[in-house]
Amino acid sequence: MSFLFSRRSKNNRKGDNIVLPEHIGIIMDGNGRWAKKRGLPRSAGHTAGAQNFRTITRYCSDIGIRYLTVYAFSTENWKRPQEEVSALMKLFKQYLEEALSDFKDDSIVVRFIGDTSAFSPELQDLIHRTQKESAHRTGMVLNIAMNYGSRDEIVTAVKSIAAHVKNGEIDIESINADTISSYLYTAGQPDPDLIIRPSGEYRISNFMLWQAAYTEFVILDKLWPDFTTDDLDSAILEFSNRNRRFGGV
Ligand code: IPE
Ligand code: IPE
Ligand code: MG
Repeated sequence: MSFLFSRRSKNNRKGDNIVLPEHIGIIMDGNGRWAKKRGLPRSAGHTAGAQNFRTITRYCSDIGIRYLTVYAFSTENWKRPQEEVSALMKLFKQYLEEALSDFKDDSIVVRFIGDTSAFSPELQDLIHRTQKESAHRTGMVLNIAMNYGSRDEIVTAVKSIAAHVKNGEIDIESINADTISSYLYTAGQPDPDLIIRPSGEYRISNFMLWQAAYTEFVILDKLWPDFTTDDLDSAILEFSNRNRRFGGV
């Protein structure tokens, strides 16, 4: 059992000076390389990655994380070979069907961020049902970023703001950073405190560009299907030891 969980389950929070991030983002990267290393098709890596997503999500909820955002499919991932995109769509559908029953007894609120209108009607229906069935819950909010791209999110927000200026609902002078935040998919949620990227890539790949203004990053040289709850503990401990200044002293 991982460190943070056993700490929490022993109810040993007194004197415990670990700062838990309120919102964690995870760029679930490295599935393809994980499969390649094993001589398997890339789709096998995505299956292993989806399985790990379940493990890590449940763990985050157990240790008391309030918001978890996972990057599952980007607006740029459509560029991949048709075969891989189809395998991913199949996996999303299968996963959502399972998630509907799997998370049933959980308190997790499932939300989707991204332009989900690009998916098949069947997948959209599952997305809609999953959101609806979990909306009343009170536990951790899980944002699944699917067909998500931060630039696309910002463009959509700007268009809506412009339309509201045009029809007189918004006064240009009143627009500030909070206005922009309130037009993003993550409206009403705190910005991520910590973003974790496995797979050793030192880039953000169009993930939460606006929201990550003061986010702490932990990058580790491990592929997503190999990422464990102990790795999550280590990332949280590292975060907890960082000195966040937000431009102050
Ligand atoms: C992340 O793993 C999953 C998606 C982007 C859908 P990758 O498929 O990018 O794996 P690598 O980076 O090629 O190893
Ligand atoms: C980022 O990974 C997107 C997801 C994990 C869903 P990519 O594999 O698409 O990113 P790049 O291409 O390495 O920047
Ligand atoms: Mg990748």
